[in-house]
Amino acid sequence: MILVVGGAGYIGSHLVKDLAANREVLVLDNLSTGHLVSLDYKADFVEGDLRDATLLDNLFSKYPIEAVMHFAAASLVGESVSHPLKYYENNVVATFNLLKAMLKHDVKNFIFSSTAATYGLPDIEHIDETVATAPINPYGQSKLMIEQMLADFGNAYGLQYIALRYFNAAGAHETGEIGESHTPETHLIPIILQHLVGVREKVSVFGTDYATPDGTCVRDYIHVTDIAKAHIIALDALLSGKVKNEIYNLGNGQGYSVKEVITACEMVTGLKARVEESERRAGDPGRLVAASKKIETELGWKAEQNLMQIIESAWKWHKNQRY
Ligand code: UFG
Repeated sequence: MILVVGGAGYIGSHLVKDLAANREVLVLDNLSTGHLVSLDYKADFVEGDLRDATLLDNLFSKYPIEAVMHFAAASLVGESVSHPLKYYENNVVATFNLLKAMLKHDVKNFIFSSTAATYGLPDIEHIDETVATAPINPYGQSKLMIEQMLADFGNAYGLQYIALRYFNAAGAHETGEIGESHTPETHLIPIILQHLVGVREKVSVFGTDYATPDGTCVRDYIHVTDIAKAHIIALDALLSGKVKNEIYNLGNGQGYSVKEVITACEMVTGLKARVEESERRAGDPGRLVAASKKIETELGWKAEQNLMQIIESAWKWHKNQRY
């Protein structure tokens, strides 16, 4: 059985939907973001929090868990700058508790959702895993601290892990049944689509004076289904003993500016956005684009869906939401 922590959230739920087709899955989620997606596939569900050591102890005693995939985290760059306590508690402390309970119960396989925010402000066109980490916000810092714990626990206690550093996750499941929705929503693509569907007045562009071709931030958007596939490949590789204690980037290798993403959303939907230029948002690097060669070479994973496909899938989901 695979324990998926945060399996009711955006990325976790996409993973669970695919993983549960072939494996026994147990989801642990505290539903803190109010984002309960349909769990009508064959996964067991426990509502609970990683700060509850007794609950973790009970879970690992009760269920035959062979590996843990950990998606639960606070993940908003801007919020992490103004509310770092939340990030060190929800991310670092919570993951520490989870790892401690795993080690106590001799569960040694761990797949971790890390982030491109660990890289900070690298002045590099395509960031690979050899680039030095230097986060510029508490969110990235908290994830990097966890990566450091993983390395130390790997050395000392035989923990076997794979950390996946996602670039910008976006898109929705091909069935249109689940998609991206946070409360409050801060991510660019859902914000644009919510505006185009009529529930938001406008789209604000945060900063137009970055050192990028059109002055707006450039990101590498990766389809949530591609991320889910990478997790399943990573899990198989870990459980089969093919690799352990590795860090892999997950990106498309294509950078798009905020303005380009807005234009792409207009093309997909056939609608025109009302756009307003505004100040930079705290903690935002100008450009983050991945080199994902390492996971392609070692595990055979490659992003399959481009920005237009990401937006098409997200639009299919958004236009059927009742806001
Ligand atoms: N942006 C706007 N207007 C908005 C929302 C966002 O201009 O209304 C801009 C942001 O300033 C940023 C870009 O759009 O330049 C993307 O912003 P998101 O909030 O969608 O995503 P982030 O790049 O801030 O962060 C995401 C994840 C992080 C991860 C990071 C890695 O939320 O967890 O990608 O690239 F670390």
